[in-house]
Amino acid sequence: MNVRITGTGSSLPGKILTNAELETLIDTTDEWITTRTGIKERRIAADGEYTSTFAAEAARRALAMAGVEPEEIDLIILGTVTPDFPFPSTACIVQDLIGATNATAFDLSAACSGFIFGLSIAEKYIRSGAAKKILVIGSEILSRIVDWQDRNTCVLFGDGAGAVVLEASEGDHSLLSTHTFSNGTYWNLLYQPGSGSRNPATDSRTIDERRIYLTMEGNDVFKHAVRAMEEAAVKALDANGLTTSDISLLIPHQANQRIIDATAKRLGLDSGRLFTNLHRYGNTSSASIPIALDEANRQGVLKPDSKLMLVAFGGGFTYGSALINW
Ligand code: ACO
Repeated sequence: MNVRITGTGSSLPGKILTNAELETLIDTTDEWITTRTGIKERRIAADGEYTSTFAAEAARRALAMAGVEPEEIDLIILGTVTPDFPFPSTACIVQDLIGATNATAFDLSAACSGFIFGLSIAEKYIRSGAAKKILVIGSEILSRIVDWQDRNTCVLFGDGAGAVVLEASEGDHSLLSTHTFSNGTYWNLLYQPGSGSRNPATDSRTIDERRIYLTMEGNDVFKHAVRAMEEAAVKALDANGLTTSDISLLIPHQANQRIIDATAKRLGLDSGRLFTNLHRYGNTSSASIPIALDEANRQGVLKPDSKLMLVAFGGGFTYGSALINW
């Protein structure tokens, strides 16, 4: 049984925070942010907007494109590190919001690789016959866990959601492979120290010592990200007997233009075969690849039978790839 992406959708907050506005909030410049990251602006959720809000809207748009009713969905997998609540899962809230009454729903924690890990699980459900129609979603409101006093991190991130509908299919327009990897040795190079069981949100020191916010060793993360995304892409090519020249488009995790360019260079991919939108959204973690995939799809960039590579890297560390015959 093959696994086809039959619908894509995305949803972003209306509020845009530009680099120029950030200049008025912290000690930074548009020039620094643009040259170091490629980011020009990001979207920020408003009061009353939650991770489930954007996840549900992205899911509705993906379902509409696929022509699938919510009741037909067997499984909802939602990648996020910024759930509405520690529990229940945000996936269950999305199930309720969209009326996917027959689905099993759960969240998946793999940071920026959450969407690729979700695709990999969904692929296995469908190939085994355990499910026929699956929603895989990446949704984040990172603006609520970044420290707006820390210029090293707050300029990098944004909010939003993307989703796909996957269906069992007999045709060739299919996921060809997914590969996932983890390297827990480096878990503390990119993480949120507070609000879990080690530094509970109920402990006043968690707030007083600013442990509630995301923290990152940027230079180390940069080096690991480039090497890991290359490895994940090469694994996918080797598994399918393909080379870089067979790839029509690479949609990498949208963290930093310099990470993307360095990864593409190591793979020997020219910029014409790269899809990026991080200048408009910043790093939206698990949402970044499905948002970019939806934009590429709706812009008609993806041609039937073209080979599409998705590759991600994130906290954990986690990394992975998906190769698709579109
Ligand atoms: N504005 C102005 N100056 C800044 C800012 C800012 N926003 N942030 C840091 N600086 C300063 C630093 O304080 C430092 O000043 P100093 O030399 O006086 O101490 C100087 O700029 C250089 O800092 P570096 O950290 O060396 O800058 P670098 O060129 O490494 O860029 C960056 C930092 C952009 C974070 C880079 O390391 C990076 O992109 N890392 C990858 C991290 C990433 O993308 N993580 C996302 C999550 S992981 C993922 O999604 C893959």
